[in-house]
Amino acid sequence: MIKLYNVSKTYAKSTVKAVDDLTLDINAGEIFGFLGPNGAGKSTTIKMLTGVLTPDSGTIEIDGVNLADNPIAAKSIEGFVPDNHEIYDTLKGIEYLNFIGTMYGMPTELLKQKIAEYAALFDLTEALPNMIGSYSHGMKQKLSIIAAVIHDPKVWILDEPLTGLDPQSAYQLKQLMRAWADRGNTVFFSSHVIDVVEKVCDRIGIINHGKLVAVDTLENIRADGKLSLEDMFLTITSDGERK
Ligand SMILES: Nc1ncnc2c1ncn2[C@@H]1O[C@H](COP(=O)(O)OP(=O)(O)OP(=O)(O)O)[C@@H](O)[C@H]1O
Ligand SMILES: [Mg+2]
Repeated sequence: MIKLYNVSKTYAKSTVKAVDDLTLDINAGEIFGFLGPNGAGKSTTIKMLTGVLTPDSGTIEIDGVNLADNPIAAKSIEGFVPDNHEIYDTLKGIEYLNFIGTMYGMPTELLKQKIAEYAALFDLTEALPNMIGSYSHGMKQKLSIIAAVIHDPKVWILDEPLTGLDPQSAYQLKQLMRAWADRGNTVFFSSHVIDVVEKVCDRIGIINHGKLVAVDTLENIRADGKLSLEDMFLTITSDGERK
């Protein structure tokens, strides 16, 4: 569902590759957790997957659609929750969701129904008539999450989605991610919270200095029994390969 072939990216004025020859294949029905220390290249990868940044080399396919050749078609299959929650402060929550849903070409009735459903799920119904500028960090995050799933994307990509969420909303988000994948969609998210990754992911990838240093199912990691995910993460990102 998400395929990256030999994708690399170096930022202007930098000599180091932020992402270095990344190849990954993520299946339908899968929740994939992307782990790595600060500055490892997670957000850069996610920005390339969502068309915010263009790779210097390599190819990205979303559900078989080449992102570089057909950017609109590929991006219409995606829902994206960025890490910065910078949304329009001068719009009301409801106006923002209507704007996003309309952009994705959703019929009015369906859009209304989906907004009501997700706002209730994330306890945001009462805040929707208010200006986004008045929202807390967590409320903006929840609005971003709703805006990303409103059009029922096959591929849902989230950068550090749990930051700032209260326990109820974090729980709802994790449940929604599972339900999303169980319907045959794909969820790709980055996180620093190893416990969360361990609870919700089917497979994980670890990136360090732009290079993918491990990819495995949690089942295999657990079956291995030698190292917990946390030990494995710390070992790999400090001194090289997993033994
Ligand atoms: N806009 C930018 N211009 C120049 N260099 C950048 C830019 N954004 C990121 N970088 C560099 O690219 C590398 C990867 O950064 P990236 O943001 O992808 O890391 P990350 O894994 O998301 O980290 P974090 O866990 O802190 O969010 C880092 O060395 C970072 O300094
Ligand atoms: Mg990041």
